[in-house]
Amino acid sequence: MESVDQILKQALVAIAACEELSALDELRVQYLGKKGQVTSLLKTLGSMEAELRKEFGQAVNRAKGELAEALSARKRELEDAVLNSRLATESIDVTLPGRGQERGGLHPVTHTSQRINDIFSRLGYDIATGPEVEDDYYNFEALNFSPDHPARAMHDTFYFGDGRLLRTHTSPVQVRVMQQQGAPVRIIAPGRVFRSDSDQTHTPMFHQVEGLLVGETVTMADLKGVLQAFVNAFFETSLAMRFRPSYFPFTEPSAEVDIAWHRGDDKESGWLEILGCGMVHPNVLKSCGIDSEKYIGYAFGMGVERLAMLRYGVADIRQFFENDVRFLRQFH
Ligand code: PHE
Repeated sequence: MESVDQILKQALVAIAACEELSALDELRVQYLGKKGQVTSLLKTLGSMEAELRKEFGQAVNRAKGELAEALSARKRELEDAVLNSRLATESIDVTLPGRGQERGGLHPVTHTSQRINDIFSRLGYDIATGPEVEDDYYNFEALNFSPDHPARAMHDTFYFGDGRLLRTHTSPVQVRVMQQQGAPVRIIAPGRVFRSDSDQTHTPMFHQVEGLLVGETVTMADLKGVLQAFVNAFFETSLAMRFRPSYFPFTEPSAEVDIAWHRGDDKESGWLEILGCGMVHPNVLKSCGIDSEKYIGYAFGMGVERLAMLRYGVADIRQFFENDVRFLRQFH
């Protein structure tokens, strides 16, 4: 009986002093486990007299119950302590401002494309599109490039080797639209074009917007008027503009258009080329089945990145395609 009391006292002291859940579990095993001290006491029952056995058995069971109680009470205390310390150190300050979700924005090239489309839509132009994978006929031949025309070499064309190629300009859409709908025509054709060229002002893929108007009484003055209206609307200011004689196989006469550009002390001030244009060559009308005696037209083609660079003051075209968010974020 004494040994039961002794073991119980000892165990209760140890439990009360225990500071770790794992150590507490070790105590449970030490006393109440299969080979624990209290359990072992029961094994001595067999060798006792009946009277004593009953009394002893009850005492051991009481001790077992008390120990179990003490263990689980201490366990709750330790668990509470763990929880309280986590609550104290891992607390959430609900008064802190939230992190929020940043709002996305359109890419500056998309912005610029849409702006160009809007301006020409208001001038009555429809929007047409064509495939990016073209063939020699649409990209060159129907546009009056003869097979050995030197201007082909200037296009730095990506060829697939099976007769197909990546269009080097949006001008093939002129041919497709005229073949499909005949005359009169008044469209712009925005889209991606490809040339094997890469430096500060060239990327292998870039965007153009083609313009085409075919009617019975179209003059170069109309072309100039429309382009001046476009330039003023696009840059939101009245800019001086000049036509400089140029050459394209599919227009005659042809011109390149410069705008007078001033930006503070910028070295760039002066005439800057923004697009190519001209009167649609009669051979192009003919290859599209349009009567070149009755109809006449003008066409123009502009580089979207070029216009975006001027409008936003971007010096290197490659920035548009690196997609560094610090760059892109400025255009939201
Ligand atoms: N397609 C020409 C180019 O990419 C531009 C252009 C379009 C010129 C229409 C005249 C008329 O250089």
